[in-house]
Amino acid sequence: MASVFSKRNGRAFVGGIATSVPGSSLRTAIAGVGMIGRVHMDAVRRTGAQVVGVSASSPARAKEAAAALGVERAFDSSQELVTSDDVDVVHICTPNDAHAALAALALRAGKHVVCEKPLTTDAATAGELAALAAESGRVAAVPFVYRYHPMAAEARERVRDGRTGDVRLLHGHYLQDWLSQPADTNWRVDAIAGGPSRAFADIGSHWCDLVEWVTGHRIAELTATSRTLPRAGGTPRTEDAVQMLFRTDRGATGALTVSQISPGRKNRLWFEIDGATTSLAFDQENPETLFVGSRGENAAVQRDPAVLSPAAARLSVVPGGHPMGYLDCFAAFVRDVHAAVRGEAPAGPPAFPTFDDAARMVRVTEAVLASAADRSWKEVS
Ligand SMILES: NC(=O)c1ccc[n+]([C@@H]2O[C@H](COP(=O)([O-])OP(=O)(O)OC[C@H]3O[C@@H](n4cnc5c(N)ncnc54)[C@H](O)[C@@H]3O)[C@@H](O)[C@H]2O)c1
Repeated sequence: MASVFSKRNGRAFVGGIATSVPGSSLRTAIAGVGMIGRVHMDAVRRTGAQVVGVSASSPARAKEAAAALGVERAFDSSQELVTSDDVDVVHICTPNDAHAALAALALRAGKHVVCEKPLTTDAATAGELAALAAESGRVAAVPFVYRYHPMAAEARERVRDGRTGDVRLLHGHYLQDWLSQPADTNWRVDAIAGGPSRAFADIGSHWCDLVEWVTGHRIAELTATSRTLPRAGGTPRTEDAVQMLFRTDRGATGALTVSQISPGRKNRLWFEIDGATTSLAFDQENPETLFVGSRGENAAVQRDPAVLSPAAARLSVVPGGHPMGYLDCFAAFVRDVHAAVRGEAPAGPPAFPTFDDAARMVRVTEAVLASAADRSWKEVS
């Protein structure tokens, strides 16, 4: 394992956090500028930090992207980007199979790292990477950004302050349709570039991270079944859908459907928490309200910082009636991560998801695959 980085480039570190990088001068670089790399770029720019460089799948593509995105430097490779002396924070937004090596290289080079999910494509490597991150003292974050929806934060507060009562049932789904036809393809479909799990690692992990964070429960054991469509040309394909039953460490039971083959569903992350007193339901595609159900009147609580809990109000950057969404979650996540890089105390929940959290989701994913393979219940370590 790499040594602890107590000093680098003459900068002092307190509690592992760089103390000499002033706010707006943080220098970031983004490895991979496809769909999500551009979302990271937008979020970074909203914090006031600079994007000093990008990398892509080839030097020519990096040059094209840098020109198109108004970024000064095009790195010839992602390895060069994550080790550059001119960079404080690296954002790794490549296909899944490149995450682990780039994140390890970046941490060893003393960088703070934001690495996309899934952190790695196997649990053993995820554990090693989380240990390396802890040892490095650098900020190491993973964008399970749905934690940053104000109404998801509101749900968490209502569980924590007892208004929901004991959590009994957790259920929901995360549904998409963009891989529903045999000819639909993407690097994610390939077991090397995407990893052995596709639908669950790609989107099921988001649901599990969010619901665990909102409730404070942990998925302790699970059983799962998966569906894989025949693919055009007979090319092997990773799982398209997973249905899972689970029990939590605090006695709740749950059911989750994850699918990338549900026609009409674009990015439908929905969960319900049934407590002893109220039920709470959140829909990522309609994130301005939280359903609060009871034996009396039901309510659709609207996002309005004037009436929400402080944790949710903090994330409401515009007044009620001015819809917020996914890009705002991302910006809030990056704002908190960069604040941590600058050594600032957290402004409030949510705590941003770390490599430890992401390694846990890789373990849940491995348990799902193992259970689907032998049709048994599996404990999540
Ligand atoms: N947190 C989220 O909400 C969220 C959402 C979407 C995607 N993701 C994750 O982000 C990652 C990228 O997904 P995407 O949807 O942006 O995919 P994408 O295909 O749109 O973009 C990936 C880009 O990386 C480039 N690339 C390939 N190899 C590279 C390398 N070695 N160095 C630099 N660039 C390289 C590709 O050419 C492509 O432009 C995946 O790991 C995915 O799971 C996370």
